[in-house]
Amino acid sequence: MKIGIDALGVAVPRRYVDMVELARARGVEPGKYVDGLGAREMAVAEPGEDTVALAALAGRRALAASEIDRASLGLLVVGTETGVDHSKPVASFVHGLLELPQTMRVYDTQHACYGGTAGLMAAVEWIASGAAAGRSALVICSDIARYGVGTAGEPTQGAGAVAMVVSANPALVEIDVGVSGAASTHVFDFWRPLGLREAQVDGHYSVQCYLDAVSAAYRGWKVRAIERGLVRGAPGELASEQLARICYHVPFCKMARKAHLQVRRCELEDAGTAWDPAAEQAGLASFKRQVDPTLPLCARIGNIYTGSLYLGLAGLLHAQAAELAGSRIGLFSYGSGCTSEFFSGVVGKAAAARIAAAKLGDLLEAREKISVAEYERIMAQPPTSPLEDAPAGDGFRFLGVKDHRRQYAGK
Ligand code: COA
Repeated sequence: MKIGIDALGVAVPRRYVDMVELARARGVEPGKYVDGLGAREMAVAEPGEDTVALAALAGRRALAASEIDRASLGLLVVGTETGVDHSKPVASFVHGLLELPQTMRVYDTQHACYGGTAGLMAAVEWIASGAAAGRSALVICSDIARYGVGTAGEPTQGAGAVAMVVSANPALVEIDVGVSGAASTHVFDFWRPLGLREAQVDGHYSVQCYLDAVSAAYRGWKVRAIERGLVRGAPGELASEQLARICYHVPFCKMARKAHLQVRRCELEDAGTAWDPAAEQAGLASFKRQVDPTLPLCARIGNIYTGSLYLGLAGLLHAQAAELAGSRIGLFSYGSGCTSEFFSGVVGKAAAARIAAAKLGDLLEAREKISVAEYERIMAQPPTSPLEDAPAGDGFRFLGVKDHRRQYAGK
């Protein structure tokens, strides 16, 4: 049975800051943010555009882009590390806001930026096991990435949600079920203790943890992919080069380049070949071809934690779905703490038409650029501030708390 991502929907905050302006305001050479980190613009979420509001909007858009009947949904999973309640999951709010069927499993999954992939894998394996009995799943990744004004992590913030309808005979990407490599280690590279709004992060260490994880996860995927005959593993043949594109988790765009060079390093190490300047040049050329096309949306939205990998996938399909139809692509998900997974899938023949239905071209056009001063004003607002005015279009919004219950409105 073919199983995978049938449709996508993306939601981003209505406002953003320009990274050159942010760099100047911080007294930093703009090249550091733009070239050094690969960031052009950064989404700024107001407290009223919380994880629930973004998730519900992305979910509604994914369902609108898909051809499945809502009544056939049997599972809703939200992957998030910026939930709004210690007990009630974001998925429960979304289930109500989208008026989804009562006869569903509904829950959140959490492991930093990996939470959405945990949901995707649960959905894919639920369908593969036969337990779904013909039903489909809605998996949503939604987060607000917040390190704080003036911190080293500030230029790697962002916010947004990516929703995926997961079904049999998917239009966008058929996942290679059971062909993946996982890698986990107990580390404190990034975490957010209870009660803190800002993440704690050991930034350079987190980059190293990510690189260690991608090495182990990629090698795990490669062994299984060769065993299953998905890629060739003869001496001199790089398995990673047989993937038409690779989407990595993108906390900032430069990280995808570091990750790809690490995968190439692993390939050469496994073949007993030295990493030298020629290997680095070949690695950079393959980055341009295989990875760079996954980054345009990420560079203009920033880090969206659980959704970052899938924002890369959405941007890639938006730009290249027609030429990639029938091609195998790789995906790498990393969640600090840490756990990770490298997996793969094949782009569907109908992917170009289906991704067009997600209307990603309109997403960035609808946004408003704000000044650094306005961004700082928004960052200083308490988390329970309602949205000052109604969002244009089809948005949802947080209205405030009444009797300890979060209230939402949406069109
Ligand atoms: N022009 C071009 N590039 C420049 C530059 C300039 N003027 N000034 C600096 N750079 C480059 C640096 O060489 C470096 O590139 P490299 O990593 O390829 O060497 C890059 O910009 C970043 O500079 P660095 O000094 O390392 O930045 P930093 O100490 O402020 O921290 C992070 C960067 C990513 C560690 C920090 O933003 C952070 O902690 N982010 C949150 C955590 C995170 O996203 N982790 C990722 C794994 S999950």
